[in-house]
Amino acid sequence: MDVKKILFVDDEQFVLDGLSRLLREYRHRWELRLALNGKEALGIVNNETIDMIISDVRMPEMNGLDLLERLQADEKTKNIPVVILTGDQERSLKRQALDLGAVDLLNKPINKEDLVSRIDNVLKLKEYQDIIIEKKRALEEQLVISQKMELVGVMAAGAVHDLSNLIAVIIGYSNLFIEGSSLDKEEALSMERIRRAGEKASDVVGHILKFSRLDDKLSTVNIGDLVDEMLSILEVTVPKAVKIHWKKPRENIYLGGSAIKYQQVVMNLFVNALQAMEPLGKGKLNVSLQKLPQEGAEGAEGRGRPLLRIEVEDTGTGMDNETMDKIFNPLFTTKEPGKGTGLGLFVVKYIIDQYGGNIEVLSELGKGSIFRVYFPLEEGV
Ligand SMILES: Nc1ncnc2c1ncn2[C@@H]1O[C@H](COP(=O)(O)OP(=O)(O)OP(=O)(O)O)[C@@H](O)[C@H]1O
Ligand SMILES: [Mg+2]
Repeated sequence: MDVKKILFVDDEQFVLDGLSRLLREYRHRWELRLALNGKEALGIVNNETIDMIISDVRMPEMNGLDLLERLQADEKTKNIPVVILTGDQERSLKRQALDLGAVDLLNKPINKEDLVSRIDNVLKLKEYQDIIIEKKRALEEQLVISQKMELVGVMAAGAVHDLSNLIAVIIGYSNLFIEGSSLDKEEALSMERIRRAGEKASDVVGHILKFSRLDDKLSTVNIGDLVDEMLSILEVTVPKAVKIHWKKPRENIYLGGSAIKYQQVVMNLFVNALQAMEPLGKGKLNVSLQKLPQEGAEGAEGRGRPLLRIEVEDTGTGMDNETMDKIFNPLFTTKEPGKGTGLGLFVVKYIIDQYGGNIEVLSELGKGSIFRVYFPLEEGV
């Protein structure tokens, strides 16, 4: 087990000495750092990796609550758990400390058993939290990568399509010359070579086109299970004040196609909705599936066929009309640099088009947004 670093902050040297003495027998597990006020504590936190902080409130220079506030405001330090020491009676202080993000409180005078079990708990929680943060980061990275791959695929498919038209021109014209017999022997041979190279290129292009369409008719996807899975991945990182409402339909609903593509569609919509609620720190995400016996959206392809509607509703920031007009454009994003690639909804739209579906967006600035996606259901499934 690696040694964890714990920082104690108190303006009384004798309190710090006492704490050090109390925890001496744990020094193989916990290394202590000591600071006499918030300012000193910040200095230490900026220079080394601290796993947890236990801080007094009343101190000169910078008090415990100010220290908490400063730590919370900095991306680098906001995940360090802080336990605040208070007197037994200081109710309003306790409340304030918790509101500012303290993970726990400890009463003064400190008793050893309390202190040790509190440290144990906090460090264990911190470990879980770190794992979750890492998982989320990896997931987001994966999403960006698969989105970029998708874009490369879209562009390649477009390029290959153009190429096949150009090759047809080459073959067509060389045929014209060869059949026209206006060429001498030497020229006819060269022309024949051009035609054969063209035909070979056409074969290669045909293979690529076939390959890029391969995964389209892969399998049937249980869309309820898929939503379940995506939400459970996201759920762990969603703040408590954001509520997710999702009632999985009792009957299984199947869509034809590639599971990865459906995952991309719902994942992008969920992530966007959660990101739209991030600045508010709270809200509601409603997710529902509904089978519609006939086409439900204006202009959906496959008219007359039964459809599945996936609805994703959030109470986030919403969008103005100007933003709404652009959300499906590749690389359009309103997020700060490094945060969004602006490929999410572009890819969503591309996949929906590919599967003969449709998407509708309703949004109001300051209220939230509703994204409705329609996919054709196989008859009798
Ligand atoms: N649920 C939503 N609420 C408010 N705005 C949204 C919502 N979904 C999308 N948007 C707006 O649409 C823009 C484009 O979304 P898109 O998913 O394509 O890219 P992104 O989320 O910015 O970046 P990326 O998805 O690549 O991380 C967003 O930047 C945002 O302004
Ligand atoms: Mg997005």
